[in-house]
Amino acid sequence: MSGHEQLLSPVVVGAWQLRNRIVMAPMTRSRAGARGVPTALNARYYGQRAGAGLIIAEAAQISPEGQGYLRTPGIHEREQIRGWRAVTEAVHEHGGTIVLQLWHVGRCTHPDNRMPGTRGVAPSAIAAPGRIFTPGGLLPMPVPEALDRAGIAATVADYGQAAVNALEAGFDGVELHAANGYLIDQFLHSSSNLRTDEYGGPVRNRCRLLREVAARLAERAGADRVGVRLSPFGAFNGAVDEDPASLFANAIEELNGLGIAYLHVINVEVSGDRNVAGASTDVVAFARRHWKGRLIAAGGYTTESAERELVSKRADLVAFGRPFIANPDLVERIRSEKPWAEAQRATFYTEGEAGYTDYPTATQAVAI
Ligand SMILES: Cc1cc2nc3c(=O)[nH]c(=O)nc-3n(C[C@H](O)[C@H](O)[C@H](O)COP(=O)(O)O)c2cc1C
Repeated sequence: MSGHEQLLSPVVVGAWQLRNRIVMAPMTRSRAGARGVPTALNARYYGQRAGAGLIIAEAAQISPEGQGYLRTPGIHEREQIRGWRAVTEAVHEHGGTIVLQLWHVGRCTHPDNRMPGTRGVAPSAIAAPGRIFTPGGLLPMPVPEALDRAGIAATVADYGQAAVNALEAGFDGVELHAANGYLIDQFLHSSSNLRTDEYGGPVRNRCRLLREVAARLAERAGADRVGVRLSPFGAFNGAVDEDPASLFANAIEELNGLGIAYLHVINVEVSGDRNVAGASTDVVAFARRHWKGRLIAAGGYTTESAERELVSKRADLVAFGRPFIANPDLVERIRSEKPWAEAQRATFYTEGEAGYTDYPTATQAVAI
């Protein structure tokens, strides 16, 4: 048997018939235009990577309040929808499938990175640990305002509208970013959620926002066009819990009832955009135990380890992040067993083409 047969096999996930099981993981690249409007350069980048069975486009803020970092794209204004349309067309032209990751950063933000007049909000008034990159350099993240009930309802509505906007922009669906310590994950975790209302306290209450938002997305986009991304047992952005096993077992089992297209989990060996040493929980096995639908595994995969996940049926698809940055033709390299180029961290979040659209394909590299 060849070492990539399963990776290259087609699969039905929700509403989509995918050409292969190789997924491009969502990656913030901080190259959107003014006011979070995607540009022709962004369309070129995604078009280059359309060989993936499924592209999960970088996290896009659902509202001005949901933005945390510089130059990230939005999906809440007309101009942004128009900008994204060029991105989805570029991918569809090459026969690809693309969904948009919907993002609210919660407390992981700084006023200098958001539109004027917007607040930083979270389940509770507890600052995120660490510092964030701003136009004035690295700064601490301020204490956020705790959302009141009306604020939570408005946020759920923003997610629903963002899903409608994404479909209007030509996306094939949406992925809810409930991972890596952002708003939904802040509600999940006991360290960032000290609420005493029905959104805090027992695990089922802390999972309420996840459940409500996922249900709203399913209602607005169709359940078979919605995925959810979780980072069980991760600690990125200070999302830690007194009992993560109970928390994530409950979160996943509640999602089972919604009939959504997939669950996407990240191995704890990768924290955000970096590898970490010493992590040992088997997140994929954990998710498989609790989740009844299609499962995407991400974090630190090679062709060999990804193929093993599929052969053993631990996962149904595998997502690659950094390899897709440096190898626009990753699927072709997997097929022809060509070596992979390594992504350069220095240009992960910088502006312009360098380190973005200028990584060559294997064929171009030989020609150079
Ligand atoms: C530059 C960069 C940006 C990222 N941005 C996001 C993001 O917007 N949303 C998200 O869920 N994960 C994000 N991640 C995490 C990746 O989706 C993925 O989980 C991680 O890179 C591990 O996969 P890999 O080992 O194949 O790179 C980002 C990672 C990188 C390297």
